[in-house]
Amino acid sequence: MDHFHYRGGVLHCEDVPVPAVAAAYGTPVFVYSSATLLHHLGEIQKAFAPANPIICYSIKANGNIHLARLMGQHGAGFDVTSGGEFYRALQAGPKGAKVVFAGVGKTDTEIMFALENDVFLFDVESEEELHTIGKIAAGMGRKAPVALRVNPDLPPKTHVKTDTSVKGVKFGLDIDTILEVTAKVVNHPGLNVCGLHMHLGSPILSAEPYKQGGAKGVRLVHEMRKQGHNITLLNMGGGFGINYRLDEAKPASVFAEAILPAVKESGCQLILEPGRFIVGNAGILVSTVLFRKETGGKKHVIQDAAMNDLIRPTLYSSYHRVWPVQLPDGLPDRPAVDMSVNTDVGNPFVDMPGTIRQEVVGPVCESGDFLAKDRPLPPLTRGDLLAVFSAGAYGMSMASNYNARCRAAEVLVTGGTHRLIRRRETFADLVACEVDCSG
Ligand code: LLP
Repeated sequence: MDHFHYRGGVLHCEDVPVPAVAAAYGTPVFVYSSATLLHHLGEIQKAFAPANPIICYSIKANGNIHLARLMGQHGAGFDVTSGGEFYRALQAGPKGAKVVFAGVGKTDTEIMFALENDVFLFDVESEEELHTIGKIAAGMGRKAPVALRVNPDLPPKTHVKTDTSVKGVKFGLDIDTILEVTAKVVNHPGLNVCGLHMHLGSPILSAEPYKQGGAKGVRLVHEMRKQGHNITLLNMGGGFGINYRLDEAKPASVFAEAILPAVKESGCQLILEPGRFIVGNAGILVSTVLFRKETGGKKHVIQDAAMNDLIRPTLYSSYHRVWPVQLPDGLPDRPAVDMSVNTDVGNPFVDMPGTIRQEVVGPVCESGDFLAKDRPLPPLTRGDLLAVFSAGAYGMSMASNYNARCRAAEVLVTGGTHRLIRRRETFADLVACEVDCSG
């Protein structure tokens, strides 16, 4: 359930009218709903409850400390992929929250930082990394807790740029040779090889890959135990898809049905690393229409959000629903998810009299700078607010300063209140790291 809905013809986030947020903080602005975020975290907690899992929110989806803190307060640990994300996790807390550290290129400094800060588990992605962690940990008089990340070699299941479990990608250890790697580190003085990790890709809309991956994982866990490793953790990663269009995604219970039998068979404690599933539909990006123009028979609506704010359409041709914050006259109120489904399938409003196909583009100097293409939308005028939906995950966390654009503000809504959780950047912020720039 997403807490974005139209009331009196105006989009609300929980009980806050979106125009009030835009008026208070300007646009572009990311607006997050606490209730939506906690609802989705709760869905995963409920679906996987029989396994009593450790749920490590994947901070790369949205690293804002306030959002991460909210999740920490509701029982989540964190999945990080860099020293910077580890730092964010520590800032978010609570103290003692479990942090798992994946990523193919951990530096020595990051490894030491993680060990000093009691990393719960390293997800190790290569043999060289494994030996490096072992050496560094032994040098610090420690044993590093380690899961080997396996690439289970599954058929393609999502966008090629984010599919992490097909043969030949840079992630994980090859399933054909992983046991040769683990055989060499039995009783290593700096390593406690206690887990197996896989993250299959993102977003994944079917539970089948988890079933196949889980089955391969169970076999490996048994083999690693035979080698003498005390394997107690099975980390199945993240990747659960969300509804970007209407209802293409599966509920958490479907993924649980696929994963829980493997967990039981492995005799391990389950770790999950969901990101998008929790925050994806908990956030929208709100922008203001600047200009309209027509070129080559195409109608462009130029608004103040751009690929630097939300790069997913440009990078992956991703689909995000877009709809005006103020409904055209005469449309009945309803949840935003129904209203803004202006795909060509199953949408009562696509052929709504008066909608026109428009290109929703931003101010950045690239033809690839768009948020939506060929989208039926009501006629828009200068100053209208637009909502880009499902922007909570991989929106702000992938935002950049390209074209020297200040990154957007972020606002968290809880019930009838809103608060700024990241201020809009200033021109001074843009040059702050350039040494001696004062002239
Ligand atoms: N665990 C690991 C090791 C990961 O690499 C990722 C995502 C996750 C967990 C969380 O996946 P999630 O539950 O959020 O799907 N920028 C792309 C997505 C890249 C995902 C990278 N890894 C996008 O906007 O679609």
